[in-house]
Amino acid sequence: MNWPTHGSNPHYLYKAAGIRQPAQIYDFSANINPLGPPKSLREDWDDFFQEIIYYPDPKATSLRTRLAEQEGLHKDQVIIGNGGAEIISLIGKWLTGKRVMIIEPSFSEYEQTCRVNECSISYFFIDHNGKIDVPHLSEALTDQDALFLCNPNNPTGIYFEKQVIEQILTICSEKKCYLIVDEAFYDFVDAYQSLVPLLNQFPNLILIRSMTKMYAIPGVRLGYMMADAEIVQSLQNQQSHWSVNGIALKAGERCLDEKHYVEQTRLFVRKERERLFRNFRKHRFDFLPSAVNFYLLRDPSMEDQSTFFQFLLKEGIVPRHTYNFPGIEGKWLRFAIRSEKENDILLEVMEKWRAIHQSSL
Ligand SMILES: Cc1ncc(COP(=O)(O)O)c(C=O)c1O
Repeated sequence: MNWPTHGSNPHYLYKAAGIRQPAQIYDFSANINPLGPPKSLREDWDDFFQEIIYYPDPKATSLRTRLAEQEGLHKDQVIIGNGGAEIISLIGKWLTGKRVMIIEPSFSEYEQTCRVNECSISYFFIDHNGKIDVPHLSEALTDQDALFLCNPNNPTGIYFEKQVIEQILTICSEKKCYLIVDEAFYDFVDAYQSLVPLLNQFPNLILIRSMTKMYAIPGVRLGYMMADAEIVQSLQNQQSHWSVNGIALKAGERCLDEKHYVEQTRLFVRKERERLFRNFRKHRFDFLPSAVNFYLLRDPSMEDQSTFFQFLLKEGIVPRHTYNFPGIEGKWLRFAIRSEKENDILLEVMEKWRAIHQSSL
C-alpha cells in the first residue's frame, strides 16, 4: 500500500486506503494547536499584506534578533527556515555522505533527507515504554558523525528530560558526534527544561524548532535552528535566497508576543489529554503517556491495528497511520488532541468500536 508519508490532506489517505471519504470528517492526523492561530495574526493580517510588494530580508535579521534575545543567544547562532522541514533538509545537505544514526520511531524526514544526501544510516530503537536505554545507545553509537533525536518525540509524544539529553550529549561529545535535537513540539510540554544554555558549552549540539505546531500556521512555513555560529553559517550558505517569505517573517515576530496564548494552549491540551486518557483507560485502549498535543493509541486485543484504522476512517475519524514509523509499523495509531467537541466525537466512535469489539483483555 502506498500510504501518505505525513498527516494532514486526508483525501490522500482515503485514496490509499481505498475507502470513500465520508461527507463529514474529523482530522486527527496533523498535530496542530486545536485553539487555532492566535487572534492577533488575523487582526494584523493587513499589515502583513504590505510585505508582498517587497523582497523579504534574506538574512531575516529582525526575527533572528528577536529569537536570539528571547533565548539568550547571539543572532549568528540562529537561522530561520521555511518550516522546520527546510532546516532538516539543510542539515541533510550539510551531512552529505556522513554516518548518521536516528533514534526511532521518529519523524520520517530525518531519514528521507539523509538518504537523498547519501549518508549511511543506522537506527537505534526506543524501548516499548518509549524510553531510551542510554548505556545501550552509548555502545551502539560507534563511528557516527551525527545522531538525530526528536524531543518530545513524534510519534510517541514522550518527552525525554533534560538530564537524559545531557547524558546523551556528553556521550556524543566524547565520540565527536553531533547531536541534533528536533524540538518541534517543545512548547506543548508543561515541565519543559530548555536545552539552549547547553549550546555554548557543547558546540556539537543543534536544536531545531518549528513555529507551525504551537501557532497553528502550517501554511505559513516557519521554523528555526539554534547552533554554533559556524554551523549556522554553513547552512546559510546552502539556503536559497529569500527562502522564508515576508509574511512568515512578520507573522513569526507577532507570534513571539503570544506568551499568554502559549500558556492557555498548554492548559487546554493538558486538560483534554487527561480527560481522553481517563476515557481510554475505562474502555481498555492502550496509549503511551504523552506530554504533548498528540498520542499513540491501540486496541490491545490486536497486534496490527488496520481493522480498527479502517473502521475509524469509515466513521470519518482520521488518525495518522504509523506504517512509515520504523519500529511500530501499523501497531499503533497516532491522534492529535483537537477541540473538546471533536474529542467528544472521537470518544463516541471509540465507544462504538468497543461495543462491537469487546476486548478480551
Ligand atoms: C518532529 C517534527 N519536526 C519538524 C516538522 C516540520 O515542521 P514544519 O516544517 O511545519 O515547521 C514536523 C512536522 O510534522 C515534525 O513533526
